Formats: sequence, structure tokens, C-alpha cells
Amino acid sequence: MCGILGYVGPQNVSEVLIEGLRKLEYRGYDSTGIAVFSKGDFQLYRSKGKIAALVEKIGSEKPQGHSGIGHTRWATHGKPSDENAHPHRSENLVLVHNGIIENHVEIRQELESRGVCFSSETDTEVIPHLMEHCVKEGMSIEDALYSCIAKLKGAFAIAVFSKQQPEKIYAAKNASPIILGIGQGENFISSDIPAILDHTRKVVVLEDGEVAMIDREKYWITDFDRNPIERDPKEITWSRIAAEKEGYKHFMLKEIYEQPRALADCLRGRVDEKQYLPALPEVSLPKLESMHRVILIACGTSWHAALVAKYWMESFIKIPVEVEVSSEFRYRDPVLDSNTLVILISQSGETADTLAAMTKAKPSGARMISICNVIDSSIARKSDDVMYTHAGPEIGVASTKAFTTQLTALALLTLAIAYQRKSISNAEVRDMTQQLLHLPSLIEECLDMNPHVEKLAKELIDVRDVLYIGRGSSYAIALEGALKLKEISYIHAEGYMGGELKHGPIALIDKDLPVVALVSGGPTYEKMLSNIEEVKARGAFVIGVCEQGDQKVQKQSRGILEVPQTSDFLRPIVESIPLQLLSYHVAEQRGCDVDQPRNLAKSVTVE
Ligand code: G6P
Repeated sequence: MCGILGYVGPQNVSEVLIEGLRKLEYRGYDSTGIAVFSKGDFQLYRSKGKIAALVEKIGSEKPQGHSGIGHTRWATHGKPSDENAHPHRSENLVLVHNGIIENHVEIRQELESRGVCFSSETDTEVIPHLMEHCVKEGMSIEDALYSCIAKLKGAFAIAVFSKQQPEKIYAAKNASPIILGIGQGENFISSDIPAILDHTRKVVVLEDGEVAMIDREKYWITDFDRNPIERDPKEITWSRIAAEKEGYKHFMLKEIYEQPRALADCLRGRVDEKQYLPALPEVSLPKLESMHRVILIACGTSWHAALVAKYWMESFIKIPVEVEVSSEFRYRDPVLDSNTLVILISQSGETADTLAAMTKAKPSGARMISICNVIDSSIARKSDDVMYTHAGPEIGVASTKAFTTQLTALALLTLAIAYQRKSISNAEVRDMTQQLLHLPSLIEECLDMNPHVEKLAKELIDVRDVLYIGRGSSYAIALEGALKLKEISYIHAEGYMGGELKHGPIALIDKDLPVVALVSGGPTYEKMLSNIEEVKARGAFVIGVCEQGDQKVQKQSRGILEVPQTSDFLRPIVESIPLQLLSYHVAEQRGCDVDQPRNLAKSVTVE
């Protein structure tokens, strides 16, 4: 995790860094820091806490300068503290880092034996000291950087500059993301695009194993062996405003409301609207002809999208589908072959465990398709084919529009493969494709229930635990509803299969345990009604999620969340909306930091 930023140019670098770091805070926010080159030396400010704490520490007289680097941290090695905050420095160098240096202990011991004193507990601090050591042995800064990265094991995106050449900032990348922003008479290094969008739309994405340099006028890139790489900037077309709150109290609420637009963007250009058939130019469907098995791999919310897709794919493509958590898959001995389709799902496209799972799957020759939101992200670049979800930047740590667009992309992919393989009739494919086109308006209808959900949320603000139950693909949504609640409101919540209650969790039921029951329809509708009876009989306070006008569920529930009538196919997407709103309002009414919940980060680029 962590966000890094670097700037060289005519503007006052302190302002550029502080404003840019605010846009990177989603990557981590337990401490921040900047280093500005001013009056012949580095002015270093570091603070535990969010950017506001750093700004307070700097005070009204911001250091003046034209080159500098900044960092927002999600702690891995060393607790959040002023000392462990980046940038880290040696005598002549200052550096920021995102990633983990796995051999930092050995490097540290070696440097300590040569008399180097460390001032932090971080893995990062070995890098400037190692470089400094090379410089003292007579190397240039550049030589020192190449020599140092050859010794580092692990993941790193770094930005580093020196007193000797304060207007040249170097970057190096292995496994953690880094981009260059190319301006006029000014250039940037950043972990992500929103941090530089106020200044330029021209972006160069670094690949693993590359080093870059920026000064005011130019940039260059090489590989780790110093071979020059030519890469022209790409133009970013997102609007800057898309990365801001637009009057909503939180990014999460804005992103929930953006879903009709996001789903429409995800569908755009992917349906042949004359024939109502999926058309996915980005996926080489003929190459999937011999496929006999699908493995979906993801983490967190993206894993819940994979669970839903399993139901769709088995029903419509009619081949075996497995769902894997990336962090487990990477350490197993999975049995794959070149006729397996591996689908990686990741909003950020940078999740370290999912990237490692790809590496694990690669030697089998399995075809890999990724479903990513962030364009040109590592997972997207490493896949054979990529379907972008086109949700736009998602800033709130709790994933909302990224989830429903992942589901939409997976639904399209399922239908496209089913059509190609003729595993269901063309009429069925057409019918479901048409349904998908109505999804944005269905979601729009769901959002009308926001004031009602806000009132209902009051009932949950003081509870200790919440149980979410569902069956079939709604079980995945129960898991997602529970995850959303626990991550932003800190209320303990679990998702469970309705049919499994009797095998344990029913022992927990009493009048103090609210149960959110997803009972909107499908083949297990009657079974879910019985599950509600079971928990009610033990005193539980039931919130029923059902289709509009469902009197059976209304009668049995104390609270009700009604969704528009829909098919079994679209139901999991539609049901997600009231659960997102419920989590949002409970967290908001409990006074929680909705967009930046404690201990979490948006993009988990470390193991
Ligand atoms: C983090 C985020 C989650 C996300 C998960 C996987 O835990 O907080 O919202 O679902 O990572 O991220 P990815 O970018 O791979 O979808």
C-alpha cells in the first residue's frame, strides 16, 4: 500500500505535494510526510496521522522549493509514528517507498556493521543508506540507484532525490505501481493518476523492472540493466471532478449514487443492440473453445463478485467453476492446464495476492482474463485479455460501484461465452442481455429507498453483531453485506447460508441479534421464509430484503428493504444496493470515518 509522489517544476512544491497526497490518501493514511529541497538542504516534515496532522505540523510557513517528494503510509514494518513516516533520509538522499523490502534485515545488519545508524523501524530506511554507501564509494546517484535495486528483494515503487542533483528525481518499480505525469516545464512521479490530474493529463505507466528520471523538461526510462526504453505519454480522459465528492458527504455515498451511470458505462459498446447479444471485442472468445473449467480468483469484495459469477457460469456455460481467494491460491498446488480459464477480478488491478496468484497460474498455460477497474494496472497488463469495468475512480475504501460493475462485466462475459458455446439457447442469451440493459434503471429505482434506509439504520447503530443470511447467489450478497457493515461501522457481522443456520449459528440467536435476511425470490424463496421463522422463533429482530409488495416477508419482518421485482439472474446485483446504503448509514450515524475506515486501505499492494 502507501502513496508516493514526486514533483519538479516552477510551482511551490509543498502545495503540489500536500494537495496530491490528499488524492492518494485512499492508499493508506496512518502517517504522512514531505521532503522539499530548499536553501541547499532537505526540509523534512513527517507526522503520524492523516494529512491534516502534517499540515498542522508544518504550520503557516510552508517550505518553499521546486522539487520534492511526499508519502502517505499504511504501516507494514514499524508502527505508525513520526519516526517511521516517510520520507526517509541519509546524509545526501531522501526517499519514499511503497512496498516491502523482504531482505531488509540482512541489508540493515550489513550497514550497521559498517557504522550506519538507523532512525526508524522500517524496511524502507535501508534503501537511502544503501545508496549513500555506494555514493561514498564514488558512485554517481544514478549508479548507486541501479546498484542498490539489484540488491533489493521484494516489492518497491520508490522516488528518490539527492542534494547534489535536487532537480532530478529518480523512480524505480518492481511490483508496486508507479506512473510519471508529464507537464509543461514540470513533471511528476506518483502511485496513481488522481494525484496529478490537477496539473496534467499526460501519463506514462512504468512497468516492473524499470527505472525512470524526471527533471523539469524531460523524463527517461530504462530497464534495471540500463537499456533505454522509449515510451510516449498516454492522454487520460477521465474528468478531474470524477475524483472528487461533488457535494456528497462521503465518497462512498457518491459512489453508491454513481452506480446507474457506472453500470451503463460498463455495458456501453458491449451489447449488439440490434440483436441483443453480448459483443465483447476485448475477449478472444474463439480461444476459449477447448476450455473445460473456470477458476475465478480474487480478494475481498471482488471475491464476492466471483462467488456470484460461479452461479451464473455453472448455470449458463455448464462447465465446472471454482472460486479461489488469491492469498490461499498462491500457496497451494492448484491443478490447472491450458484448457482452464482463469479469471482474475480486481478493482485496483494491483492487489499483491492476486498478482501472485497470476504468477502461480502462469506456467500451466491457462488463459487469463482479468476484470479490472484501473486502466493499465498490473493485473490488467499481465492478462491475456482484460475487461475494464469502467466504474471510474473509486475513492471510498468500501467498494460499491466497483462491485456492481464487476458483476455486470462478469454477467456479460458469462453470456458471451454461453452464446459462443451454445450452452443455452440464443433466445435465453437475448433475454438476459436485454435484462442487463435495464439494470441502470433498476438500480436508479433502488436508490429511491435511501431515506427509508437511513431511518432503518437507526435500529442498528447500537447493536454488537449482525447476521446476514441468504441462499444461492444471494448468499454471496449476504457475505458482501456483512463485510461492508463490519469494515466501515466496526460492528461485527457475518454472512451465512440460510440452510446452514441450524448447524451452529442458530445458537447465537436471541433478541439482541438483528438478522438481515435476503429473501427476494428464486428457487429457495420458501426455504428462506422458513429460515426467517426459525430465527424469529428465537427472538431475532429480522430485516427482510424482499421484492416490492412481498407481504409474506413484510409480515415476518420488523424492518423491510424492498427492491424492484427482477429475475433470479439480476437479483444479486439489485439486492446489493440496499445493503450498501444500510452499511453507509449505520457507519455514518455511529460517527465512523466512512471513507477511510481504520486499519484498511483501498489498494492492498503488500502481502
Ligand atoms: C481491499 C479493499 C477491498 C477490496 C480488496 C480487493 O481489501 O479494501 O474493497 O475488495 O482489497 O481489492 P481489488 O482491488 O483486488 O479488488
